[in-house]
Amino acid sequence: MVLLCPVCGQPLTRTENTWRCPAGHCFDVARQGYVNLLTVDRKHARHPGDTKEQVAARKAFLDGGFYRPIADTVCRLLVPLQPKAVLDAGCGEGYYLTRLQAAQPQAAYAGIDISKDAVRFAAVRNKQALWLTGTAAALPFPEDSFDAVLSMFALTVEREFARVLRPQGRFLQVLAGPDHLLGLKSIIYPEILHKEKTLHPDLCGFRLEHTETLEFSFTLEDANQVRNLLSMTPHFWRISKDGAARLAAAERLTDTAQVIFNLYSKE
Ligand SMILES: C[S@@+](CC[C@H](N)C(=O)[O-])C[C@H]1O[C@@H](n2cnc3c(N)ncnc32)[C@H](O)[C@@H]1O
Ligand SMILES: [Zn+2]
Repeated sequence: MVLLCPVCGQPLTRTENTWRCPAGHCFDVARQGYVNLLTVDRKHARHPGDTKEQVAARKAFLDGGFYRPIADTVCRLLVPLQPKAVLDAGCGEGYYLTRLQAAQPQAAYAGIDISKDAVRFAAVRNKQALWLTGTAAALPFPEDSFDAVLSMFALTVEREFARVLRPQGRFLQVLAGPDHLLGLKSIIYPEILHKEKTLHPDLCGFRLEHTETLEFSFTLEDANQVRNLLSMTPHFWRISKDGAARLAAAERLTDTAQVIFNLYSKE
């Protein structure tokens, strides 16, 4: 897999624990094995992306297996295509990419996330993939690098995804549906407002090849997992004091996930 310097765009080569470009820009491999390619001008914040607490909560929740049906659907959609190189953009702590890699080990895998804490967790979880801190808005890869790009509950940067995909490459976009986690919402909000959201967006440079919606119920028997689930969602930032108090009182939660899978093919 060829990596490009985020400063000047020239190829990076690795010597021991440093990636270096011909112009002398250097990026160290962290102790956990990931590479930090986030340059100060692209950071916009001291700790961009998800916080350490959010990442730890997501890891604890995902490791509980509650979202396994989502990972299984990713594998069912992508494994038959036999991609040789896969990128997870906004990879978080690496749960989904690691499950795909287990289902199809003979490919090359890379994950990128703007949160250093997320990537650190991913690198500890999985030593076989290439983990990078960086922004999906300017991917550090040349054109035609991947057969598949994933974005799981994360951002879509169609121009960049199309650039790094090979001809006929696939982009799998995974979104929360309008009825995702209504149980959680009904605890934290006095009334549930339905926001209009485009569920199958037109993406420039792509053709929507297949779409499906997955729904499944799960039960959290433990108040910690209820809190972990909240931390993974955007409601974490919006919740009122009253909503937080109601959720803190919830010892268990049965809820339904509704997840949309949009599989695009590069035109
Ligand atoms: C809702 S989380 C989903 C994480 C993971 N895909 C999952 O489903 O478990 C969204 C992720 O996007 C990351 N993110 C936000 N802005 C980003 C950017 N510009 N480039 C790369 N990642 C970004 C966040 O740090 C966070 O880990
Ligand atoms: Zn450079």
